[in-house]
Amino acid sequence: MAKTVLGVIGGSGVYEFPGLKNERWEKVSSPWGEPSDELHFGELPTESGTVEMVFLPRHGRGHPHSPSSINYRANIDALKRVGVTDIISVSAVGSLKEELPPGTFVIVDQFIDRSFAREKSFFGEGFVAHVSMAQPVCPRLGDHLEKACKNNSIAYARGGTYLVMEGPQFSTLAESNLYRSWGCSVIGMTNMPEAKLAREAEICYATVAMVTDYDCWHPHHAHVEVSDVVRVLEENAGHARTVIRSVAASFGPERTPSPHGLDRVLDTALITAPAK
Ligand code: ADE
Repeated sequence: MAKTVLGVIGGSGVYEFPGLKNERWEKVSSPWGEPSDELHFGELPTESGTVEMVFLPRHGRGHPHSPSSINYRANIDALKRVGVTDIISVSAVGSLKEELPPGTFVIVDQFIDRSFAREKSFFGEGFVAHVSMAQPVCPRLGDHLEKACKNNSIAYARGGTYLVMEGPQFSTLAESNLYRSWGCSVIGMTNMPEAKLAREAEICYATVAMVTDYDCWHPHHAHVEVSDVVRVLEENAGHARTVIRSVAASFGPERTPSPHGLDRVLDTALITAPAK
């Protein structure tokens, strides 16, 4: 039986994962450049055995990397190289819906990618592949995340569309209203191209989006500022870690292949003819 290696990418406010057994921080090199930080390796004891975990702070410890300067390819490649099979992305977002107040965890199931200044693929000239992004997150991980939120009485919503903006500035009111008119649920700056690259790397990926603010569209809430984001994140970082621990426990150390084929997407995605 293959083993689970659970990758966690921590967003703003989530720079470490305390309490792992046999933990160590280690630099992992990638031909795609520098990952955001060293990887934090460790083990989570669960009833069904020990689950291996690898944590990466997306912005680096101390938050030196902006959403546009993160080397997403190096991050995903480094996690792939150390054997990560499944990634949970923990990300701060603004809410675009009244019914998703700050503090809510949204287990998103769709993305709209409006980022434009980032490298988005491991493929390109000379070696072309087109992977499907119709269902961009792993439903199996989504089920585990939902169970974890439910069992720990954390306010959550299952499903929702995450609008990825380039940033680093927050949105104008017109943009925020446009995204609301598109039916988007939350807005953030980082989950693309991360989700696309995880798919190309045949790693299952799911996001738990932690709502920190109402962006700038809400008539009765102040426009988002970094101080609000940080305050709500600090209040919720403990919940995020609880959710991850619960997912590790319900996923367990032994891994069956993705029922949705997400760990073998390249079987059908390569289009360049093999070299003669
Ligand atoms: N991250 C947290 N809140 C956000 C917002 N309102 N817009 C973009 N990214 C965010």
